[in-house]
Amino acid sequence: MRALTPNCWFDDQDDPIHGLISLPDPVMELAGEFEALPDDPYCRHRQRRFSQFRVTHTDAGWTHKLLPRRAHIQDRTYNHAVGGILRYLQPLQIDATAVIDCARRAFRQQRGSDWHVDVHQWRMNCPLANQVESVPEGLHRDGHQFVAIFVINRSNISGAVTCVQDASGNTLFKDVVDSGQGMILDDRRALHHTSELVAPLLDGHRDIFVVCANEWKTRRYGEAFELACQMDKSVEPPTSGTLINSSHAHS
Ligand SMILES: [Fe+2]
Repeated sequence: MRALTPNCWFDDQDDPIHGLISLPDPVMELAGEFEALPDDPYCRHRQRRFSQFRVTHTDAGWTHKLLPRRAHIQDRTYNHAVGGILRYLQPLQIDATAVIDCARRAFRQQRGSDWHVDVHQWRMNCPLANQVESVPEGLHRDGHQFVAIFVINRSNISGAVTCVQDASGNTLFKDVVDSGQGMILDDRRALHHTSELVAPLLDGHRDIFVVCANEWKTRRYGEAFELACQMDKSVEPPTSGTLINSSHAHS
């Protein structure tokens, strides 16, 4: 098994579809911030917060700005369960800098481009002796350019095996993403799924951050995007010309 290093997304691949990273300490130090999340009104057993940001590089370095609060929505193409529905979620209460920085490096975001970044913080609960579906929509894409799943804590659970496939159905990865690890996805080319959580001995839970990123010019944010999703118009991410070249600097 390849050794994992912080902020490194399979540097030996020029154009990776997926990759595992180990999460840096500043991200893992947020582990205590999952204890009082509000219930997700759209998904049983899930507690959740969500905020959106604009990430920019200036002469002073990378900065991010919290965007005005809007509902979360996905195109029905990507989410058969709750796609096309405006979901009103409570905003993050944490300082998301470490999470955004980690994702930015893993996605190899380049200077010169502004990025729209969604940060989801959620806990999936699994009561004792139960089995809880983690991803009601099944194998899917999220409808973004890049997606990262940072697993902060798996507590008293088994299962929750992550599977990544390419568009041809080839399995690229099928394993547990453990506490302290992150799965990075080129969401235009990868499909992903996580299997049920099982809590055989005690109440269990799985705490994760999900970070989604799109170049600002193709952001999934704002009224036009929300209307397109509600009207069932497919909102495809760009498929060419914007892939991140690994030869660019990570910072
Ligand atoms: Fe997803």
